[in-house]
Amino acid sequence: MTTPPLRLDTLSGDALRAALPGLSRLRLTVFAEWPYLYDGDAAHEARYLAAYAADPGAAAVVAFDGATPVGMATCQPMAGAGGPVAAAFRARGLDPARFCYFGESVLLPEYRGRGAGVGFFAAREAQARRLGLAAAAFCAVVRNPNDPRRPAGHVPLDGFWRNRGFAPRPDLSCVFSWKEIGDDRETPHVLSFWLKDLA
Ligand SMILES: CC(C)(COP(=O)(O)OP(=O)(O)OC[C@H]1O[C@@H](n2cnc3c(N)ncnc32)[C@H](O)[C@@H]1OP(=O)(O)O)[C@@H](O)C(=O)NCCC(=O)NCCS
Repeated sequence: MTTPPLRLDTLSGDALRAALPGLSRLRLTVFAEWPYLYDGDAAHEARYLAAYAADPGAAAVVAFDGATPVGMATCQPMAGAGGPVAAAFRARGLDPARFCYFGESVLLPEYRGRGAGVGFFAAREAQARRLGLAAAAFCAVVRNPNDPRRPAGHVPLDGFWRNRGFAPRPDLSCVFSWKEIGDDRETPHVLSFWLKDLA
């Protein structure tokens, strides 16, 4: 028997706001794992995701199993994104106004390998095109391949991202701070960008 595809819905504004508690839980669950090891708190998650609901150009593509959200991916015009992202682009002479920033993709492990990740990219690229943006960008944490916390057999997503048409830009990076599991304070983490021309 083949597994049916998950339903993907692109949510913005009030529809996104209504879904936020479930989406916060997804982020906390998936980002607690390698390579992010994120020890997040619900209050920060609520503020972070509420910014997407407040931006009319932003969207979350949500994967549903029945009525239950099991994964999501966000996107937003980079010009409206807070934090260090737009500054990193300006520092390299790139105009943030040309880019759609893909914030994250998270999918519960038991739902992986069924095409939702591919669908997250297709739906976010469609949103970027609707907004008239010329390119897409996301960033991923840079880890030492010899990090002893790396689970045996972990496969990096680089190949998956290349297959979606993105190219790494090791010269383009930013720093986000978060508390890792087992730590008592936030530490800085380098995230490196991947870019795709949507023209
Ligand atoms: C990133 C992530 C969302 C990808 O999710 P996924 O649903 O497993 O990805 P997919 O199933 O769409 O794609 C995986 C592969 O299976 C293939 N695939 C399997 N079944 C498929 C189907 N039914 N339809 C389309 N593609 C399918 C895809 O083509 C892809 O292979 P390819 O790269 O050779 O083309 C998931 O791995 C994840 O949550 N990772 C942890 C969090 C993380 O690190 N996120 C990234 C940084 S924010």
